Amino acid sequence: MPYTSSMLVDLKFSAQEFPTIIVNDGSVETVEQAKLWVSENVESLKKELGCSGAILFRGFPVVDAQDFDDFFAAFEYPNFTYKESLSNAVRVNHTEYVFTANEAPKGVEIYLHNEMAQTPIYPGIISLFCENAADHGGETVICRSDFVYERLLAAEPKLTAELEAKGIKYTTMMPAQDAPESGQGRSWRGTLSVESITEAEEKLGSLGYSWQWNDDGSLSAQTSALPAIRTLEAGRKVFFNQIIAAYSGWKGVKDNPSKALCFGDDSEIPKHFLETIVGIANDVSYNLLWQDGDVAIVDNNLAMHGRLPYSGDRKRKVLVVLGLE
Ligand SMILES: [Fe+2]
Repeated sequence: MPYTSSMLVDLKFSAQEFPTIIVNDGSVETVEQAKLWVSENVESLKKELGCSGAILFRGFPVVDAQDFDDFFAAFEYPNFTYKESLSNAVRVNHTEYVFTANEAPKGVEIYLHNEMAQTPIYPGIISLFCENAADHGGETVICRSDFVYERLLAAEPKLTAELEAKGIKYTTMMPAQDAPESGQGRSWRGTLSVESITEAEEKLGSLGYSWQWNDDGSLSAQTSALPAIRTLEAGRKVFFNQIIAAYSGWKGVKDNPSKALCFGDDSEIPKHFLETIVGIANDVSYNLLWQDGDVAIVDNNLAMHGRLPYSGDRKRKVLVVLGLE
C-alpha cells in the first residue's frame, strides 16, 4: 500500500498552545516513512515549533538511537555536537550526534534551564527521544521562557529590567576528572576540549572567562556578562538562562547564590527574586510523562527543560540530539 498521511490537521500555529502533541494515526509505519513524513511537512512543523516552542511526536516507529538520529536528520537542522559544546554534564555518545541526556543518578532532579545558556555557545534546537521510560516519574519538564518573562515582569518589574540590562555572570567549577554522579561533573579537559592547563587558559581567555585553579586540580571559571533575557524575532522576549538550574541544583548555591550567580556588573541578585523566578517557572511548567518511542523537539530559545527524579527497576533511557536553527 502506498504511504499517505494527513496528520497535520491539528497544527494551530498558536503561541498560547504548549506543547504541541502529534500522535501517529497509524499511517506512518516505518522509519523510512517517518523521515518522508517529516520531509514533506518540515516547513509546517518548524513553523509550529516556532509558535508553540515544543512538539511531542508520539507513536512513531522510532525504536533506537539510530532511528532517532534518522528521524531528527529529516528536519535538516545543522548539527551541534556535544564535543564542541561547553556543556558541563557528563554524557555518552550513541551515534555521531546522539548522546545520553544526562548521566546523573535517578534520584537527582535536573532543574529547568535553556540548554547551555550558561555558556556563550548554545544550540537553537534540542530533541529528546525516550527509548525506555522509567517505571515511575522521570518526566522531562518543559517551560515556556516567554511565559516566565511576562509573569516575572509583572511580579518584579524593577529587578527584571535590571536583569535584562545587566545580564548575568555564572561561576562554575569543573572537576579534574569526570564525575558522572554529578549533574555537572564534566572535567575541565572535557568541557573545554583541551589537554593541558595552557590550552585551557587560552580557551577561557578567548571566551571572555576569568578563572582560578583550585588545590584539588579543579577549575573555577566565571563567564563574562551573558544575556539573561533575550529578544527574539517579532520582539518576543524570553527568560533565557540557567538561573533556576544554578540556584536550585548546583551544589551549595541555594544557601549562597553569589557562589555561582551575580548580575553582569558583579552586584548581588536578591534571593527573594530567585525564589520568585522558581515559583513562576513551576507554575507554568508542563511535565512530559514519557512513553517508549516518544520524540520531543524543543526550541531552546523559547522553552526551558529539566528532569524529575524517577524510581523503579527499569533503566530510563532518554537520548538527545542538538541542532542549530
Ligand atoms: Fe539540558
